[in-house]
Amino acid sequence: MTDAYAERVRRVTALRGCDTVLSGIRPTSVAEQLDTLRAAATDDLLPDFYGEGGAVEAVERRVAELLGTEAAAFFPTGTMAQQVALRYGAELTGRDAVGLHPLSHPLQHERDAYAVLGGLRAVRTTGAPCNPTADEVAALDEPIGTLMLELPLRDAGFVLPTWDELVAVVGAARARGARVHLDGARLWESTVHLGHSLAEITGLADSVYVSFYKSLGGHSGAALAGSAELIRYARAWRHRYGGNLFQQWPAALAALAGLDRELPRLAGYVAHAERVAEALAGLPGARVHPAPPHTHQFRLWLPHPADALNDANLALAEEEKAWFVGGWQDTEVAGLAMAEVTVAGPALELDADQITDLADRVIRRVATA
Ligand SMILES: Cc1ncc(COP(=O)(O)O)c(C=O)c1O
Repeated sequence: MTDAYAERVRRVTALRGCDTVLSGIRPTSVAEQLDTLRAAATDDLLPDFYGEGGAVEAVERRVAELLGTEAAAFFPTGTMAQQVALRYGAELTGRDAVGLHPLSHPLQHERDAYAVLGGLRAVRTTGAPCNPTADEVAALDEPIGTLMLELPLRDAGFVLPTWDELVAVVGAARARGARVHLDGARLWESTVHLGHSLAEITGLADSVYVSFYKSLGGHSGAALAGSAELIRYARAWRHRYGGNLFQQWPAALAALAGLDRELPRLAGYVAHAERVAEALAGLPGARVHPAPPHTHQFRLWLPHPADALNDANLALAEEEKAWFVGGWQDTEVAGLAMAEVTVAGPALELDADQITDLADRVIRRVATA
């Protein structure tokens, strides 16, 4: 076991034991996850077979219905699903350039798979910490086959455009002959800020990828949704990329359970995130961004070193069964750390006074360490 995994086990164990949790959810054990799968499986449900039938087909139908597309294909990862969507755009338009934000997942976290495996080329759409504007896309120096928009843009603080900005940037891409693909890893919770349904948002684009293991709490997996023709192509390339697994029912069943259980709750989390962010912004030297948050996730800065905050948070969890916020990282400003806050089920139980009290207990530990 690596030191990093051992540390993770310690954190997960501490978080599981907490009575109070501000950011995130209580992690489940394998046995608890098996219970969820058992409850989601009808007695006559058969395993899927290389992507056909069973829970995989059920989740594909469900996603196509929710997003209002002709079809959807289940993928083991979003990394794979998006490469397929982008290469389809390149083949249809004859353009290997993809409009990507410098902070987007393919440019930050995928070891350049779009280029190394897909033979595609990135055109950076903006230097601003948000999705590009219509003017920026209209002014790109070179033609692009696909414009990819990440909704919300996670590494900029889970930020979304307004609906009008989104409509305008999609129009600008189309005016330049480009297709539009949405990285909707967190599309589920974006409906609140955008003020439009999943199907209305998806209707703006040619293809959308959604994730099952982030806000929905599934095991893993993704879906690519769009036209029937795109999805036929996606199934062929999923096979070529090594993504046509013999059976995927555990991930698919967990996805269905997440759609049943978490999807209806997300709007409530987004509403509560506004109150949580307001309480946190009142702490000495704190900043939150965006304010108010666009989804149930946002960034928080506190004027302390990351190690001190992580240690204090873990000690609070282990000794007082209360979890404030984990995952602190140092920033370019010495002594100022940043963490991502996720307001989910457990945080709904906490009001502003309880949040301030939790923060005070962590900061007292930092001060006396
Ligand atoms: C915005 C975004 N896009 C794509 C992905 C890729 O998803 P996967 O881990 O399923 O490959 C992630 C995963 O964290 C993500 O956050």
